[in-house]
Amino acid sequence: MTKYVINGGKPLYGEIDISGAKNAAVAIIPAALMVDGPCRIENLPQISDVTMLLNILKEMGADIRTINKNTMEIDCSGIKTAEATFDMMRKIRASYYLIGAMLGRFGKAKVAMPGGCNFGGVRPIDQHIKGFEAMGAEVELTNGLVNCETNGGLKGASIFLDVVSVGATVNIMLAAALAEGMTVIENAAREPHIVDLANFLNSMGADIRGAGTNVIKVRGVKSLRGGTYAVIPDQIEAGTYMAAVAATGGDVLIKNVIPKHMDCISGKLREMGVTIVENGETLRVIRKSALKRTNVKTLPYPGFPTDMQPQVAVVLCLAKGTSIVTEGVWDNRYKYVDEIAKMGAKIKVEGRVAVIEGVDMLTGAPVTAPDLRAGAAMVIAGLCAEGTTEIEGVHYIERGYEAIIEKLRGVGADIKSVYVPDEQENESRDVG
Ligand code: EPU
Repeated sequence: MTKYVINGGKPLYGEIDISGAKNAAVAIIPAALMVDGPCRIENLPQISDVTMLLNILKEMGADIRTINKNTMEIDCSGIKTAEATFDMMRKIRASYYLIGAMLGRFGKAKVAMPGGCNFGGVRPIDQHIKGFEAMGAEVELTNGLVNCETNGGLKGASIFLDVVSVGATVNIMLAAALAEGMTVIENAAREPHIVDLANFLNSMGADIRGAGTNVIKVRGVKSLRGGTYAVIPDQIEAGTYMAAVAATGGDVLIKNVIPKHMDCISGKLREMGVTIVENGETLRVIRKSALKRTNVKTLPYPGFPTDMQPQVAVVLCLAKGTSIVTEGVWDNRYKYVDEIAKMGAKIKVEGRVAVIEGVDMLTGAPVTAPDLRAGAAMVIAGLCAEGTTEIEGVHYIERGYEAIIEKLRGVGADIKSVYVPDEQENESRDVG
C-alpha cells in the first residue's frame, strides 16, 4: 500500500505545469478504436486511468507505441473483436466508451459493466442505452455484461437526453460518428472534454457540429483516418492546484491552461478573496489575505464543476463565516466529509447540501480517500493543516493526477509518497 505523508502549514510559491485532461483522454483513447490506421495522441496525462484503457485496447489487439511519456501512437486496425469483458474494464468508468466505439466500428459490442469512482450509489447508464436503442441497437444487460447487437449497423436518430450526461453525450457521439445518416443529440453536455472529443473525431474525418452547445449534430461518415491530435489541458487538475494555493496561501503560476475553461472556478475563488491574474495560457493565483465565505452550487458546464466540489469545500472550511455547498449533479458526493472532520473541519450534510462553518485552522490526521476528487481534497486539507496528515487510498488520486507529488514539491509543499507493506505482505514475509 502507498500512502501520502504531508507536513502542512506551508504556503505555496512557484509554478505548476498542467497535464492533459483526464476526462478528454479517456474518451479519445476509446475513439481511436474507430480510426483506420495509426493515430498519434499527444499531451496524454500519465495516470492510471489512461494506462488501464491503453492496456484494454492492447489486450484487444491494438498496436500501441510509446513516442514519449505523454505521446502514444495507437493503431487499432488489428482489432477484430467487438468484445471486451476483462476484469480491467470493471475498474474504470470510461471503459464504457468502448461500447459506443465498438458499435460504431463493428455494429455490435459486448463489454463488462464499467467501474470507476463510486459516489455512494449506482451510476446509471440508461441515457447511453436510450441513445443506442434509438439508433437501432438491441441492448441487453446480464451478468455484469452489456451486450449490444444491431441489424447491420447503427442508423442516425434524434435523441433528447433526460439528464445532461457527459458520458451519454460522449458515447452517443462516438456511436454516431460512423452510423448511417444524421444523429442529433439534444440537451447534450457542454464540458470542454466533449468539445475536445469532437475536435479529435473531426480531425480524423468525422462530421460533428455544435459540440460545446446543447445540440450536437453528427453526420455519420464511412470511415475515419489516422492523424495527430493533442489533448486539451485538464480543467480540474488546474482547479485543484488553484484551490490548494487558495487554502495554503502563497503565489503560484498555473501554466498550460485554457483560462476560458477556468472561468467558473476562477470566479468562485475570486469571491473568496483570491487574486487571479490571467495572462495567455497561464493563471497566477495569489492568496495573501483571509478567505471570505461564499456559496457554491455544482452544475453541468459552464456551471461550477462537481469534480471541484470536495476541493473547494476544503477551502471554505478555512473561510470566515458559514458557506453553503449544493451538489447539483450527483446524489451523494460527500463521502469525504467524515474524514475531513477528523482534521477539525465543521461540515454538516443534509441530502445534497453541505453547511460549512469556517474554522481558524485544520490539524493533521490519518485519513482515507474514498474517491479521486475527495482524495485531492484531502491533499489540500493536509497541505494547509498544522502537523502531519497521512492519506490512504491514494490509488484513487493516481487515477487522475499526473505526478501530483512532484508538482506539489516543486512549489514548496512537504509531501511524500511512502510505501507501507500491508499486513498480508508482512505475514507472508514473517512466514518466510
Ligand atoms: N445520469 C443518469 N443516466 C445516465 C447517465 C447519467 O441518470 O445514463 C446522471 C448521473 O447519475 C448523474 C448525472 O446524470 O447524476 C451526470 O452524470 P454524467 O453522465 O454526466 O457523469 P459521467 O459521464 O459518469 C463524467 C466524469 C465525472 C464527472 C461527471 C459530471 C468522466 C470519465 N467522468 O462522469 O468525473 O463527475 O461527468 O461532470 O468523464 C472525475 O473525474 O472525478 C469524475 C467522476
